[in-house]
Amino acid sequence: METPKKRINRKVLVITLIVIFVAISLQFAGPEIINPPVTSAIDVPDSVSAILKKGCYDCHSNESKPAWFDKLAPVSWIVSSDIKEARSRFNFSQWTDLAPADQQVKFWEMINMAQNGKMPLPSYLTFHPEAKLTSKEIQVLKDYGQKFIISKPGDTAGVADAERELQGFRISNQTPQRTQVSLNGIKYSDDYKTWKVMVATTRFETRTMRVVYGNDIAIKAIENGDINPWPQGSIIVKVVWNMIEDENGEIRPGTFNNTQWMVKDDKKFPETKGWGFARFNGTKLLAYGKTAKFGTACFNCHKLVKGTGYVFDLPVSRNNEIASRD
Ligand code: HEC
Ligand code: HEC
Repeated sequence: METPKKRINRKVLVITLIVIFVAISLQFAGPEIINPPVTSAIDVPDSVSAILKKGCYDCHSNESKPAWFDKLAPVSWIVSSDIKEARSRFNFSQWTDLAPADQQVKFWEMINMAQNGKMPLPSYLTFHPEAKLTSKEIQVLKDYGQKFIISKPGDTAGVADAERELQGFRISNQTPQRTQVSLNGIKYSDDYKTWKVMVATTRFETRTMRVVYGNDIAIKAIENGDINPWPQGSIIVKVVWNMIEDENGEIRPGTFNNTQWMVKDDKKFPETKGWGFARFNGTKLLAYGKTAKFGTACFNCHKLVKGTGYVFDLPVSRNNEIASRD
């Protein structure tokens, strides 16, 4: 007669055998990680190339070097689907197929993603911690990225245009069309000029500088960490200026480019998680969008940052991901 203990032992044995059998048979199913030929590789200095190889090549190139455990199913399925997706976005082995302007934008997008801790993929870093870029390495990428700036030191016409416009902009009754309304009903207003600044950033790749303002409700929500979801009535406004370089080589805001709005109103904008979007272009503040549904296109990008209530720019001290970076 079997003792209960023996019976359990046998059960464990059978289950273990089944697991091993399934794990082995999985190895014959599913995709393999294949490296197609390198056709038009990115051509950058060795210092830059080493960083990209270390952090990004396993997914964004045809020179993936998966570790042994990456090749075991079912991990290999996830890895190969990440690689497929990553290569479809951009591929360092087919880099020069991109137009030069697209290379610039992509390069700065890469720096942004690495800096915000979004790339390399966090799931990958768990098993490849050595692939994480240090702040020094990110700086090397940034320094290299600077060479893309089509720099025009002493852009005197640009400086004069900016001065003239700034004078007009400051005297608010000279700024035209104060009654602009977006097709989804969001009204332009100058009020944001008295709000608190959430973040100010410079994007070299598009030669713009931006300042993001939040109304009292939004600022309080940030202070209380109450941003998922953001409270009703939160308004966030991003103001974008063209960037110029003055005669001393100082980078500063030039002419005004546009303002972009996010207004939290769950009743009015249920399809975009309660955020209404609006954009007013140029000094005439022309409302952007051909139909009232244009906000869906805005939301398609913003939904990438679900974890912060669909808002990208948070003050650094509140953004743990950035604050905890090395
Ligand atoms: C484990 C695989 C993996 C690694 C390693 C990796 N990426 Fe990615 N990357 C992806 C995937 C998958 C996507 C597409 C999905 C997404 O955006 O999350 C992507 C998307 C991107 C995008 C957005 C491109 C677009 O057009 O949408 C950028 C930029 C990017 N990666 C940069 C980098 C940089 C820079 C590195 C190295 C520091 C890196 N990635 C390392 C898998 C990876
Ligand atoms: C291609 C992706 C993309 C699209 C499309 C997009 N945004 Fe954004 N938006 C971003 C990114 C990235 C940031 C943060 C970086 C920055 O400020 O440039 C941002 C920032 C903002 C901010 C400041 C608050 C925040 O989330 O950081 C507002 C307001 C904003 N966008 C409004 C809009 C509006 C209005 C539209 C549509 C007309 C739009 N966005 C379309 C990517 C996008």
